[in-house]
Amino acid sequence: MPETHGEQDIQDTLWEALAATAREAMTHAYVPYSKFPVGAAALLDDGRIVSGCNVENASYGLTLCAECALVSALAMSGGGRIRAFSCVDGEGNTLMPCGRCRQLLYEFRAPDMVLMTVSGVRTMDEVLPDAFGPQHLA
Ligand code: THU
Repeated sequence: MPETHGEQDIQDTLWEALAATAREAMTHAYVPYSKFPVGAAALLDDGRIVSGCNVENASYGLTLCAECALVSALAMSGGGRIRAFSCVDGEGNTLMPCGRCRQLLYEFRAPDMVLMTVSGVRTMDEVLPDAFGPQHLA
């Protein structure tokens, strides 16, 4: 009898792959000021996986969050929409994207986008309710 893989196994594999990619990205972080490395990874609607790390600056407020690098990687590698997102801290544990980064992610969300959070898998709407977005500029 061949082993079958249910939907839960597929989901677990996806989240583990995204966390592993985010952890690898985190190792590239440039964080001489906060000493708080962050890595982020996302599955796009065409199956690509993009990632990013945080890059700080001597002018502290110019710091680029890991999500900034991730959305740049998304654009640079052909565009697309985020279906699943994961972010980790220096220990490799799930980290919540900051408020500004939730807005960055919102811009590039697929309709069914989900995020791994400290309270489990959440929709974009759950982490950024009643979001401002491109629809308000039409
Ligand atoms: N940071 C991120 O890269 N993403 C987030 O969503 C939260 C915060 C970074 C910015 C800064 O380099 C460090 O974490 C400490 O705030």
